[in-house]
Amino acid sequence: MKRRNFVKSITATGTGLIILPSGFLSGQSANNKLNIALIGAHGRGSQHYSSLKDQNVVAICDVNADNMALAAKQYPNARQYVDWRKCLEQKDIEAVFICTPDHHHAFISIWAMNRGKHVFCEKPLGECVEEAREVRRVYLANKNKLATQHGTQRHAHENFDRVAELVRHGAIGELQEVATWGNRTHKMTGYLPAAGAAPSTIDWEQWIGPVQMHPFNPGYFGARPGAGCLLWNMYHDFGSWQVGDMGSHTMDLAWNAIDADAPTTAEAVGDPYSPEVCPSDHHASFSLPANSWRGPVKLEWYQGTLKPTSPNPAIDILKIGHGAMFRGTKGILISDFTTRILIPGREGADMTYYKSPTTEKVAPPHPSFVGQWINACKGDLKTSCDFDYAGKMIETLMLGLAAHKAGKVLNYDSATGKVTNYSDVNENLKKEYRKGWVLND
Ligand SMILES: NC(=O)c1ccc[n+]([C@@H]2O[C@H](COP(=O)([O-])OP(=O)(O)OC[C@H]3O[C@@H](n4cnc5c(N)ncnc54)[C@H](O)[C@@H]3O)[C@@H](O)[C@H]2O)c1
Repeated sequence: MKRRNFVKSITATGTGLIILPSGFLSGQSANNKLNIALIGAHGRGSQHYSSLKDQNVVAICDVNADNMALAAKQYPNARQYVDWRKCLEQKDIEAVFICTPDHHHAFISIWAMNRGKHVFCEKPLGECVEEAREVRRVYLANKNKLATQHGTQRHAHENFDRVAELVRHGAIGELQEVATWGNRTHKMTGYLPAAGAAPSTIDWEQWIGPVQMHPFNPGYFGARPGAGCLLWNMYHDFGSWQVGDMGSHTMDLAWNAIDADAPTTAEAVGDPYSPEVCPSDHHASFSLPANSWRGPVKLEWYQGTLKPTSPNPAIDILKIGHGAMFRGTKGILISDFTTRILIPGREGADMTYYKSPTTEKVAPPHPSFVGQWINACKGDLKTSCDFDYAGKMIETLMLGLAAHKAGKVLNYDSATGKVTNYSDVNENLKKEYRKGWVLND
């Protein structure tokens, strides 16, 4: 379990801090503040201002002049950029905090790590199998010097640990199936129509960035901070709808508990495939290989109006907006982000088979999620949702979307990142970028 490893590593090194001969911690400035570039400086970015208040935000980058002005009030001394590629050239930046729309995430993460900068990236880490794999690959090559965190902050809810403990200590017997779901729907059918030139306050060319050009429309803008993504993330070139949105959070609840690895098969059903918008209704199923403490499991992601069947008429799954259900040989565990319901099966209903973890084995409260990353940048580089953990999870979710497009049961080789039974489907695992944009630079 990632978090347990984190705790273990702190214990192993005593304080968990690495003292360098200079007396400063690795990646730390003399005043103990981290020099951060905030890329995507308003919207969700503004919801992180309080977490970053004790650090040095030395650069802000945004393509919207109005948003830049709001961020500049918060960070009057930060240098300002419209193009994140230019921003990453600023020499004193130690860490990059990414809150742009999804289609820039993998690019900025990789470019930043290649330039020796720690990265916090809002979810999702990538927009296709190839992006998720490439971010993970670059992270693994740099993991001894860089700290990364994927923006699934719900991971810090103590319920994540309690669910993992119940599953791993056998409260539902041998784990067999896990279903996860999210209830957001959309009604869009295609990209918004051309609506004239973008206002001079928005650099549309830069907003589009690496993906194919689409005409400007004001409908992509105007929501309250943190909800702006719901105006553009259903369009294929800009997002992956709920797969990358609440899917990242909800799958994290399951992924953390079942210690998952990339799947061996994927298939999906839902709304008919559209080349412009992601399906609103989508149900992806994956076969996950066995690991050291459990056998192979079936993992599912339901989205929109689709839901798993309730195990008991008294439990209305429809009332749990985003949740996970773990089915084992001796019972069922249903969970949302903060609460859980355990339903022992008929066999062994007295639960005498269950050995709850001892006090010292129970994971301690999680530190602040952003704070954990900041401390990791300054110290032992350990976080609970690093790009290894998150990369595999996002790779899996994106494979589900590729299976939806293919309409076939895909056999997947996670060592090579290739579909082995339909070679043409491998084209669905990557994206074509505009001339001049390179994913790994
Ligand atoms: N972890 C969470 O719970 C959570 C919650 C909300 C949003 N998010 C994530 O945060 C990200 C942003 O979502 P949002 O709702 O704030 O979107 P938004 O469109 O409202 O805001 C994005 C911000 O980035 C700026 N921007 C756009 N393109 C840019 C570029 N190329 N370079 C620099 N800045 C750019 C925009 O001007 C804006 O200030 C999304 O990836 C979303 O998934 C995460």
